[in-house]
Amino acid sequence: MIENPQRYTVTAALIYANGPIHIGHIAGCYLPADIYVRYLRATGKDVAFISGTDEHGVPITIRAQKEGITPQQVVDKYYGQIKQAFADFGISFDVYSRTSNKIHHETSQEIFRNLYEGGNFTEEVTEQYYDETANQFLADRYIVGVCPVCANENAYGDQCERCGSTLSPTELREPLRSMLSGAKPVLKATKNWYLPLDRMQPRIEEYVNSHREWKTNVFGQCQSWLKEGLRPRAMTRDLDWGISVPLPDTEGKVLYVWFDAPIGYISMTKEWAAEQGRNWELYWRDKNTKLVHFIGKDNIVFHCIIFPAMLMHDSTGYILPDNVPANEFMNLEGDKISTSRNWAVWLHEYLDEMPNKQDVLRYVLAANAPETKDSEFTWKDYQTRNNAELVGIFGNFVNRAFVLTQKFCENRVPALCEPTDYDREVLNELAQFPDRIGQSIAAYRFREGLMHLMDLARLGNKYLAETEPWKVVKTDPTRANSILHIALQITANLSVLCEPFLPFTAQNLRHQLNAEALDKDNLTWLNAGKSDLLTEGHALGQSSLLFEKLEDEVINKQIQKLHDSKRMNELATKTPPEPKGEITYDDFAKMDIRIGTITEAERVAKSDKLLKLRVDDGMGGRQILSGIAKHFTPEELIGKQVTFLANLAPRKMMGLESQGMVLMAEDRDGSLALLPPHKPVWNGGSVS
Ligand code: MF3
Ligand code: ZN
Repeated sequence: MIENPQRYTVTAALIYANGPIHIGHIAGCYLPADIYVRYLRATGKDVAFISGTDEHGVPITIRAQKEGITPQQVVDKYYGQIKQAFADFGISFDVYSRTSNKIHHETSQEIFRNLYEGGNFTEEVTEQYYDETANQFLADRYIVGVCPVCANENAYGDQCERCGSTLSPTELREPLRSMLSGAKPVLKATKNWYLPLDRMQPRIEEYVNSHREWKTNVFGQCQSWLKEGLRPRAMTRDLDWGISVPLPDTEGKVLYVWFDAPIGYISMTKEWAAEQGRNWELYWRDKNTKLVHFIGKDNIVFHCIIFPAMLMHDSTGYILPDNVPANEFMNLEGDKISTSRNWAVWLHEYLDEMPNKQDVLRYVLAANAPETKDSEFTWKDYQTRNNAELVGIFGNFVNRAFVLTQKFCENRVPALCEPTDYDREVLNELAQFPDRIGQSIAAYRFREGLMHLMDLARLGNKYLAETEPWKVVKTDPTRANSILHIALQITANLSVLCEPFLPFTAQNLRHQLNAEALDKDNLTWLNAGKSDLLTEGHALGQSSLLFEKLEDEVINKQIQKLHDSKRMNELATKTPPEPKGEITYDDFAKMDIRIGTITEAERVAKSDKLLKLRVDDGMGGRQILSGIAKHFTPEELIGKQVTFLANLAPRKMMGLESQGMVLMAEDRDGSLALLPPHKPVWNGGSVS
C-alpha cells in the first residue's frame, strides 16, 4: 500500500455499452468511486477519475442481434445515454470515454505487442466450435445445446438460463445448433495467444500477498483462485467485433475483450491528459501514484489477477493497482436485479420521474451500499430514509438554524460570546468530524462515513434542543445569538462535509449560506472542523427546504411500476397457443358467424362466471350466456357490437338457454377482448 501518494488514478469499471445502467451498478461501483474522488479533490489531492464504456466483445454483438442493428449502432446508442445519466446523477468523472476510440485501439495493440515481444504469450491450437454456414467460430454464448444439469434443450454454451448453471460449451450434453445460422456446430482447429497465468503465478501471488489490506471479500476471492492454480487464458478470440490482433495472419481474430477493456483506463487517461496538457505517464508509471479500481464483485479476477499480470509483464513499466475495493451486489425488493427480467430501477428513468432527487438516491444507495455483503434496495426504505433521515434530521436541523437566524438576527451571522462548557464540548466534537468522515472514506467505508455525517446533523439538532435559543432569546439575546452562531457554523460544516455524498445538496446549501460572499477558502474541507467558517455579520442568502417529504402515493407508484414491468416481461416470453389441426373450407363454411349488438346484460344468479346477454341479431334478438363475468361488468358491455357464432346448437346452463356464442380474443395475460367490426355494421351482418 502506498502511504503518502502524490497523486491518484481512480477508475470505475467500463460498463458494457449494451444497455442502460441501474441502481445496482451505481451502488456497487460508481457512487463509492465518486464519493472517494470528491473527497480526494476536497482535500486538495491530484486525482484523475477515469471511466467510459466497454464497447467490444460478445455482450455487444448479442445485443445487436437482439435489436436487429449493428454492433456499432448498439455502442453509439448506449454510450451517449449512459454518459448523460452519469453526468445528470453527479458522477464527476474527469473523462468518460469509449473503447472504440482510435487511441484505445492503438494502446491495446501496443501493449499486446509489448507482451508478445517480451515472450509473454504462448500460442496454442485448440478445437473450437465453428458454424460452417456462417463461416465463423462461435463464442460460447452462440452455441445452443442440452444442459447437463437440467436437460434444458435451449441452454447456451456459457450458461443455462433455466437452472442458472454456469457452463462451458464442451459441457453441453450435445451442441445442437448455432445461434447465428441454426447449423450444428462442428469442432475446428484454431490458433490463439494465451497469457500463461500458470507460469506467471509466483509473481502474481507475491503481488496479491503484498496487499493484505484489501477488503476481505476481494482478498479472499484472489486467494481461492491462486489456491486452485491459475490456468492459461486466451487473449485473442475468433470473433469479428473488436480490436484486430497486431500480428500477421490473424484475419478473423480480435483481442479478447477482457484484454482490451482494462487498458481502456490507460487510453482514456491519455485522452484526458492530452486535453489537459498533462503527462499521462505520471498517472500510470510513477511509483508515487496510487491506482485504485472501483468495480463490482464479478470483475475481481480481471482487476486483481489478469490485468496486473499484463501490466507487470509489460516491460515499459506500469504501476499496479494499489487497491480494488470491489463491492458485493445490491438486490431490489427481495429479488436479484435482472436486466433480462426487467427487475431494476433504471437510472435514466429515476432521473426523469424523480426530478432533482439525485441526492436522495445517492443517500439511500450509500447508506445501503453492499460493501461487505449483498444488500437490498426497497422503495419503502427509500421513503423512510428520505422522510426520517434527510428531512427529519439533516434538513430539519439546517432549516431550524436558518429560520431562527432570520427571526432573531436579521439573517446575519450573529456574534459568538464566551462559550459555555457545553458549547466547548460541542465545538470539540465538531472538530473531530472531518477526520472521522475522511478516514472512513479513505478506508472505503462509505456507509460509515455517511453515518458520521448524519451524526454531525444529529449533534446540531441536539445542541438546539438542549440550548433552546427560541426561549433564551427572551431573557438573554446575546446568549441566544451565540447559540445560533454555533448552529450556523455546524451548518456551514455540513455543507462542506456532505459534498462527497450529496453534491447537489452541498451546492444548494452553499448558496443558501451565501458562500459566494465569503473568502473562497472559508468553506473548504481543510478548514472544516473549525467554528469560523462563517464570519460574524455575514449576510445569509435565502433559505429553502433542502429535502421534501415523500408521500406514499409517489412510492407506491414506483413499486407498482416495478411489478408491472416484471409482469410484462414474463408475458413477453410466453408464446401463442399451439396451432390446431387442419380443417377444410367446408368445415369452416359450416359456421354461421355474425355481427350483433349487446342490448342487455346481467349477472346470472349463483354463478360467478356467467353473464346473461341479450343480443340484437337483426332477426328479433336472442339470449346468449357467456362465461365472462370475471372479465367484464354488465354495464360496460351494453351497446357494444360483437361477433358471435349464430348456429351453435342451443345449450342450457344454470337452467337458462344459450342461443349461440359471443367470440372473444384472449390476450397474453389471459384477459379477454371483444371482437367488434372495425366500423359499425348492421346487426345480423355475416362474417366470412
Ligand atoms: N464491461 C465489464 C462489465 O460490465 C467491465 C469492464 S471493466 C474493465 O462487467 F476494466 F475491463 F474495463
Ligand atoms: Zn440447466
